[in-house]
Amino acid sequence: MRLDRFLSNLPRFNRQDARHLLASGGVRLDGRVNRDGRSEVTLFSRVELGDGEILQAGKPARYFMLHKPGGVVSATVHPEHRTVLDLLDEPDKDELHLAGRLDLNTSGLLLITNDGQWSRRVTLPKRKQPKVYLVETEDPIEPACIEVFARGLYFRFEDLTTLPAELEILAPCQARLTLYEGRYHQVKRMFGHFQNKVIGLHRISMGAIRLDAGLAPGEYRALTSAEIDSFSRD
Ligand code: URA
Repeated sequence: MRLDRFLSNLPRFNRQDARHLLASGGVRLDGRVNRDGRSEVTLFSRVELGDGEILQAGKPARYFMLHKPGGVVSATVHPEHRTVLDLLDEPDKDELHLAGRLDLNTSGLLLITNDGQWSRRVTLPKRKQPKVYLVETEDPIEPACIEVFARGLYFRFEDLTTLPAELEILAPCQARLTLYEGRYHQVKRMFGHFQNKVIGLHRISMGAIRLDAGLAPGEYRALTSAEIDSFSRD
């Protein structure tokens, strides 16, 4: 919500009061005087009056990276399996959600937050954030995959062609694959086009955030400010 709207929605101010208050420098947003009524106020923003009176304290925004092990579901609740949230020892877990998912048997980087705007920036298709996977296949990877994946593959079910993806063959049955989108079972379906079964899949990065090598499967840590800011607003 805009800051001017936030203020005029309070019982004690009308729109004119809000305008005057802003123009006189009487409002601080996240610790700084803010005169711009168009500034955004979220659940995480701290809004104060000039005399220090707190209008909204702001919830702490929380951001984590988890090394998801195989066999744990990328969901917040599940009737059968353990979920990734079960691996977190944090308060108010019901406020957290996942910024992107991984299949049950896929391991690697999973981002978890309570900031919906941030997770939208991570996952919004038009942002085309690179996601890098290590892939292990049942059969040797045909070099033709490189060109076909770079051109894009037609997925009949969604009636779309996948965005150009980069495949680097590391060993006969191992590759690094960079995708710029996240379609349902995308990696498995891309290799499935070549009748090659994916038997191991591990995500190593999303955008500029790399899975911390110090995290064992099932471990997690808070993201650094640089990692959070790497999914910038523009
Ligand atoms: N592609 C898949 O097939 N599975 C995943 O978990 C992620 C990408």
